[in-house]
Amino acid sequence: MKLWDLYEKSAVDLGSFLPDSTASFETYCLLEQIFGWNRHQLLLHKDMEVNEEQIQKMDTLLQRRKEGYPLQYLLGTWEFWNYEFAVGEGVLIPRGDTETLCEAVLDAAKGFTAPVIADLCSGSGCLPVVFSKEIPNAPRIYAVELSEEALPYLRKNVEKNNCTNITIIHGDVLTWTPNEPLHIISSNPPYLSAEEMLELQKEVTYEPKMALEAPENGLYFYRMLSQRYLDFLVNNGVLAFEVGYRQAKEVAALMEVAGFVDIRIIPDLCGIDRVVLGRKP
Ligand SMILES: C[S@@+](CC[C@H](N)C(=O)[O-])C[C@H]1O[C@@H](n2cnc3c(N)ncnc32)[C@H](O)[C@@H]1O
Repeated sequence: MKLWDLYEKSAVDLGSFLPDSTASFETYCLLEQIFGWNRHQLLLHKDMEVNEEQIQKMDTLLQRRKEGYPLQYLLGTWEFWNYEFAVGEGVLIPRGDTETLCEAVLDAAKGFTAPVIADLCSGSGCLPVVFSKEIPNAPRIYAVELSEEALPYLRKNVEKNNCTNITIIHGDVLTWTPNEPLHIISSNPPYLSAEEMLELQKEVTYEPKMALEAPENGLYFYRMLSQRYLDFLVNNGVLAFEVGYRQAKEVAALMEVAGFVDIRIIPDLCGIDRVVLGRKP
């Protein structure tokens, strides 16, 4: 069988499970993984004969994918803000939605000459790594994560992206006390309600529950973190949250009660309210 035939057969196979354009994209991703070539290189080799082992490998990946296992876990890496992150079972896959939070923090950082930043609930490290790369005047960035399973990915991603100004804290954001004042705090905490957990897309059920679910109808971390971290910010310091699609107004109210001012809600590219940001007076 030629490489092109393997592509066509696999895309049809995945097409029974996914929309055609997605099936084609994912087939390329899986072939890239097996052959170690990018899409352009695959096309250059489309008439190459593939061997039995390669066909078998592709079959196994397709089978897993059709069971709903996330593509990103099969690939072992995923891109966020044009940087590559190691991912796998035990860590949340970085989402495009989270780039809105990233953008808000990069924007807020322009207001400080040497911002000390903390990212609470860091998971794969997608946010602190981007901050480290894109905010060169940030002397220190703290990345706080509790999960034993997520931590190896966080360490690996910080290392492989060469982020020497990131300090990883293996700890609970509900009890961690920073040892210096912070200029910016970002957090994409768990925010799904128990009800939403029952309606998860199949792929998401493979992701860690600890990264997804929060008590108080998903609002628990927003309430706790707004209260706890106000004191750890400098005056005019910024707290920025990613929020679920129906939570922005409630989170803004929780931040106001905690003492934050200038609270703003920022929509993502789909127009969904995605980030809530406030300042310490
Ligand atoms: C929604 S995920 C976000 C991960 C990452 N920031 C991102 O945007 O992809 C929430 C993360 O919070 C972590 N987490 C949950 N409870 C925590 C706690 N009490 N202290 C620290 N981290 C916690 C989870 O393990 C998970 O990695």
